[in-house]
Amino acid sequence: MRELRHLIEPEDFTLAELEEVVDYGLDMFENPAKYSDACKGKILASLFFEPSTRTKFSFDAAMLRLGGGLIGFADANTSSTKKGESLGDTIKVMGYYSDIVVMRHPKEGAPKLASKYSSVPIINGGDGGHQHPTQTLTDLITIKKFKGQIEGHTVAFCGDLKYGRTVHSLIRTLARFNTKKFILISPEELALPNALKRQLKENFDLEIKEVRYIEEVIEEIDVLYMTRIQKERFFNEEDYLRLKNSYILDNDKITLAKKDMIIMHPLPRVNEISPEVDDDDRAVYFEQSQLGVYVRMALICKLLEVGPYVRG
Ligand code: CP
Repeated sequence: MRELRHLIEPEDFTLAELEEVVDYGLDMFENPAKYSDACKGKILASLFFEPSTRTKFSFDAAMLRLGGGLIGFADANTSSTKKGESLGDTIKVMGYYSDIVVMRHPKEGAPKLASKYSSVPIINGGDGGHQHPTQTLTDLITIKKFKGQIEGHTVAFCGDLKYGRTVHSLIRTLARFNTKKFILISPEELALPNALKRQLKENFDLEIKEVRYIEEVIEEIDVLYMTRIQKERFFNEEDYLRLKNSYILDNDKITLAKKDMIIMHPLPRVNEISPEVDDDDRAVYFEQSQLGVYVRMALICKLLEVGPYVRG
């Protein structure tokens, strides 16, 4: 019988498994026709209790490109959650209707809870300010494609490091991949949570440098990971308005950057990267969104043990 696996946080996969998904994703990007029937007869259910463009539709596109089918909702108000149905009951039923579930939820831990009730693999498409493991896979495939390898870069995270779940998932994973130096660029109020910083320092041999402004460190950076100030996680509008324009990356600010630095962003952006930067060869955030489809194809195949993951 197939072992039931879920992806709730990146630590659910070994480094070898993460890199294998990335490598299959790159092959799917180069040779999509090879995989066009891998999920024939399978159904992906996407349950989005919070808004999404990339995660929702890249999973949809991934399943369609694998020859599978789709059910689900992008607005929980159209589901029986609105009538008071519990998450556990919803998930049990989805196990009868689908082969794999991706869910996004505003409550931290909701996908983990869902996995306790599920008879099919659960993929966390983002839970509150906690984790976003498939964005991490998207980030890893992008780093590998544009920098040749995942390991060994000086990686800077800029913006909302407190609430940004993409940052929380990626920084832990890059630490596991033997990254030696992280640069954290944020206002004090939006700094990376102390518990996470402590965890990184205690478990990995790495340097963490914290600064307020991009200009202080731009020459050192190999991978610049910009993030949006997470309006939806603020408790009051006043704080958001005060902090929302903390960073606006423009052509002036990257003048002194390395020629082979890459600029990433999980998107959506608000105004933290000026559109003039889009034309710079170092800006890879739209390619990053595109690669997200292919790495999610590889992930679906892994969890369903189909395509390249069929057991011999
Ligand atoms: N990067 C990301 O999670 O985008 P969406 O919120 O549009 O899914």
